[in-house]
Amino acid sequence: ILTKKIAVLAGDGIGPEVCQEAIKVLNAIGDRFGHTFTFDHQLMGACAIDATGDPLPEETLQACFEADAVLLGAIGDPKYDNNPAAKVRPEQGLLRLRKSLGLYANIRPVTAYEMLIPHSPLKNDRIAGADMIFFRELTGGIYFGEKGRTEDGAYDNCTYSRFEISRIAHLAFKAAQNRRGKLTLVDKANVLETSRLWREVVQELSPSYPDVKVDYLFVDNAAMQLILNPKQFDVILTENMFGDILSDEASVIAGSLGLLPSSSVGDAVALFEPIHGSYPQAKGKNIANPIATILSAAMMLEHFGLLQEANLVRYAVEEALDKKIVTQDLASPIMSYSTEQVGTFVASCVMGGVLEGL
Ligand code: IPM
Ligand code: MN
Repeated sequence: ILTKKIAVLAGDGIGPEVCQEAIKVLNAIGDRFGHTFTFDHQLMGACAIDATGDPLPEETLQACFEADAVLLGAIGDPKYDNNPAAKVRPEQGLLRLRKSLGLYANIRPVTAYEMLIPHSPLKNDRIAGADMIFFRELTGGIYFGEKGRTEDGAYDNCTYSRFEISRIAHLAFKAAQNRRGKLTLVDKANVLETSRLWREVVQELSPSYPDVKVDYLFVDNAAMQLILNPKQFDVILTENMFGDILSDEASVIAGSLGLLPSSSVGDAVALFEPIHGSYPQAKGKNIANPIATILSAAMMLEHFGLLQEANLVRYAVEEALDKKIVTQDLASPIMSYSTEQVGTFVASCVMGGVLEGL
């Protein structure tokens, strides 16, 4: 029986709505198993800029350091997207948070859910059985290199060190050992010097993991292969920006961007967040899919060592998908349920679900 303190950065747009459902589910787990989860709500993103002028106030960062885990909703607001001259942006909060907490590995699992396959825009036989996991480097590369404007131009530098590459590569190799033993490094080594370093480092580490088969793909080809033959992938290791782009693409295989969770791990406390953004058009409408955040909470439970609890949440999510208790992104508007209804269904399934075999 555990007691855990969770910092909640609900953020902007649909962030608060999806976090509320994940909290509902965590509380159901707490009730059923006798764990105590406490939630410390803090500001981050556009809401933090509005309240304090800073997208990541000191108090928020402090609360994260003091927590056992961080649950994040989403950040971002169109008033900044459409204003390229804005000096302070919500995204800076998230990037500074990742960097400050040393969250160098962002782990994004993608599975094709059987019950959603018939609805996929992709050919069903190509995606059935697809099951991959991205290891996206999260605190380096072009996101964090020197950037700036000149009178007539702009630049964003991409740099990587051996150390930054090898620490996440080790995690990816270990994950492959516990899965199907395949690691794909995605890079652009035919053009980029940083990518050649990624290849070099991965090639050097490879003999230490003789049970893992490594292959290398250029990112443009990888983007195509993901749609043509997603079943070939097991663990995908890649740098920050390629991982950002390819994981959104891969969400089509799962059925919706609203389904994909992630965990970010590194030096200090771990963070759990859906891979989707703040979906401002849906804010306050109770239509956003809470499953990505609920599954992020499941990853948090697993991180706490609560494997049965995590599997119970995943089982409850599959029940919701099976019974078509889903939001608009997965059903026609008339046949769909609200954010709250989906969360309540999953939570009640957690309370009543059979534990045998989990
Ligand atoms: C993500 C998001 C972020 C990123 C944005 C909001 C900065 O797209 O987590 O994938 O690019 O990393
Ligand atoms: Mn993204």
